[in-house]
Amino acid sequence: METTLAMVKPDAVAAGHLGRILDRILKEGFRIAGVKMLRLSQGQAEGFYAVHRQRAFFADLTRFMTSGPVVAMILERPDAIATWRRVMGATDPAKAGDGTLRKEFGTNLERNATHGSDAPETAATEIAYLFNMLEIYSTD
Ligand code: RTP
Ligand code: MG
Repeated sequence: METTLAMVKPDAVAAGHLGRILDRILKEGFRIAGVKMLRLSQGQAEGFYAVHRQRAFFADLTRFMTSGPVVAMILERPDAIATWRRVMGATDPAKAGDGTLRKEFGTNLERNATHGSDAPETAATEIAYLFNMLEIYSTD
């Protein structure tokens, strides 16, 4: 089993796509081991995306990520990280394949509907950043 941190970003929550994205998550065989809706503060968004703090798009990205509520989830299944990134599709919705969430629900490179961890270490860091142990439902 592997876990990843998924997020439905403010654009997709505001547009009412949460239900369809959750349905897709379950159809793809993920177990939801934790879920919460929250509105990130500016500082929390900067911390979450700290790896990108030197990038030109950092201010825009953190402004967008604080613009409304997000839904963060811990998803579990074999090969969860790569599977979730495949289901999301390419970062830029214009380049995302047919049937991917970003193709269906994304607007542009920034407003791209969903987030997913990119490696096991990142998943562990992101999960610990957003969830405490009482909020994680483990079947172990
Ligand atoms: P994410 O972390 O959100 O799952 O997306 P990702 O791995 O596919 O892409 P990443 O390189 O980690 O970028 C994080 C988010 O920053 C925004 N972005 N804007 N304007 C730009 O050039 C640009 N590049 C990236 C996107 O919202 C991307 O999801
Ligand atoms: Mg990323």
